[in-house]
Amino acid sequence: MLDAPVPVREPETPAAPPASPFPLELAGLSARHAGQERHALDGFALTLEAGRRVAVVGASGSGKTTLAQVLLRFLDVEHGTYRIGGVPAWELDGDEVRRFVGLCAQDAHLFDSSVRENLRLAKVGADDEELREALRRARLLDWVDGLPAGLDTLVGEHGSRLSGGQRQRLALARALLADFPVLVLDEPAEHLDLATADALTDDLLRATEGRTTVLITHRLHGLDAVDEVVVLDEGRTVQRGPYAELAAVDGPLRRMLEREEETDALLTGAGRPTFLAK
Ligand SMILES: Nc1ncnc2c1ncn2[C@@H]1O[C@H](COP(=O)(O)OP(=O)(O)OP(=O)(O)O)[C@@H](O)[C@H]1O
Ligand SMILES: [Mg+2]
Repeated sequence: MLDAPVPVREPETPAAPPASPFPLELAGLSARHAGQERHALDGFALTLEAGRRVAVVGASGSGKTTLAQVLLRFLDVEHGTYRIGGVPAWELDGDEVRRFVGLCAQDAHLFDSSVRENLRLAKVGADDEELREALRRARLLDWVDGLPAGLDTLVGEHGSRLSGGQRQRLALARALLADFPVLVLDEPAEHLDLATADALTDDLLRATEGRTTVLITHRLHGLDAVDEVVVLDEGRTVQRGPYAELAAVDGPLRRMLEREEETDALLTGAGRPTFLAK
């Protein structure tokens, strides 16, 4: 889980939470980190209806994690509005906001305990059937079933006995089990090799079908599956729309795509002289 970077203002008398968080709406929203001159997020807008999936992409430092922090009320905004089911988010208790909006972070914390206990953090008292269903959707069930200790397998300190991909899948299973109305995934595939990252992205897009999701990523693989892609550059939205539309025109996403294809070609050896390719 993400730690709060700076204390946020909590309402003295919190408003009653709405029955439903939809629509969840951000408009004209700007946020700045403590001690920074520049807005990390500038004039941002987003509307999430139930079941809508949006990907937020952009280079390092473009404001993607800042958006996650704003959505979870870990960071106050300077201008603009953030409404959850019609109620301004800052009138709600922060924990109440985080019952509506959950985060699966890139370095999601795993505890030095069993697979079962790590999952149960998300849902106290969940039975093995529920745990197995979450693992199945995160494509980790076959692995767990193949282990002598199954759900009782110890993951090690910070999940050190798991591969990077398994750690991320366990974090994803936990987030699915928690069943947040809105799920924010911040770079779930970071630090994984390309093939593992792309397989994880495919699986998580399958697992979040029909669920309101904000997928933050710097990689474009698989994004044709989401409803809308928002491209950030230095905190500003420079392009947005369905992936196919953005990929078809000359613009920021197309340039990202071309850079990605070049890098992938170098990393996978495609396009290299045959005597170098392995
Ligand atoms: N805690 C912080 N204190 C001060 N500045 C910060 C803090 N966190 C982020 N920033 C700044 O805000 C801007 C946006 O950062 P952010 O972490 O949102 O980018 P990002 O798109 O998530 O990048 P990455 O792809 O590297 O994760 C950057 O200029 C960054 O330096
Ligand atoms: Mg980030």
